Amino acid sequence: MNKPVVNVKNVKKVYGKKGENQSHALKGLTFSIQEGEFVGIMGPSGSGKTTLLNVISTLDKATDGMIEIAGTEISKMKQNELSDFRAQKLGFIFQDFNLLENLSIYENIALPLSLRGTSSRKISQKVEKVADMLGISAILQKYPSEVSGGQKQRSAAARALVHEPAIILGDEPTGALDSKNATSLLEAMKNLNEKQDISIMLVTHDPYSASYCQRILFIQDGKLYKEIHRGSTREAFYKEILDVLAYIDIHKE
Ligand SMILES: Nc1ncnc2c1ncn2[C@@H]1O[C@H](COP(=O)(O)OP(=O)(O)O)[C@@H](O)[C@H]1O
Ligand SMILES: [Mg+2]
Repeated sequence: MNKPVVNVKNVKKVYGKKGENQSHALKGLTFSIQEGEFVGIMGPSGSGKTTLLNVISTLDKATDGMIEIAGTEISKMKQNELSDFRAQKLGFIFQDFNLLENLSIYENIALPLSLRGTSSRKISQKVEKVADMLGISAILQKYPSEVSGGQKQRSAAARALVHEPAIILGDEPTGALDSKNATSLLEAMKNLNEKQDISIMLVTHDPYSASYCQRILFIQDGKLYKEIHRGSTREAFYKEILDVLAYIDIHKE
């Protein structure tokens, strides 16, 4: 039953050309994310989190190693195949929403479907379903400038979800939100994960956001440093995360 949705084997990423000042951002990472898991990636600034997200999301190419998403080895795919793959299998939530100001919230959410020619009847079914899951049904006819930051981010989450991707990838999605809106986004993500079995990989440096995950991978200096699983409550997990972060902080050179 347990199938990996993301499978990463000995992945390395080197920036820069040979003979120049190279930067070894990922030094051989191996892990997998099972279908229906909510996994956080944490680590100090410069540890390779964004690089990892970029190579998994096919926005950048790993220098070495193997990456499989939903059973497809992306490291072997060509550029034109990758963009289709990305559009179908992945959903992104970034820090700065990336909503188009001239489109209504409804049209923004519908975008991944309209781009591939889905019928308007199907689009409206799907948009209404995700809007309901994320509690934004009432603002669908508004424009991004007319809604709050939290509503924008839940709209971005709806857009990431509407085409039923294999996994949602988030890079600091709560970064621009106040704590109340951050909490409502995180609760919404947790709901999607628990009730709809949606797989999520969340890159964050924020222990509060990370405490909503089921499992956290800590990376340091481009390597997997530690992995912790949520036991009982979110509050207890939050404390455990703070302990690991403090330990990493004390022991870095
Ligand atoms: N485009 C790039 N060119 C050269 N070095 C880079 C580039 N992007 C990131 N790096 C380096 O790779 C390392 C990891 O960076 P990054 O993945 O952004 O870390 P994080 O997201 O954890 O802060 C850092 O040492 C950074 O300076
Ligand atoms: Mg980063």
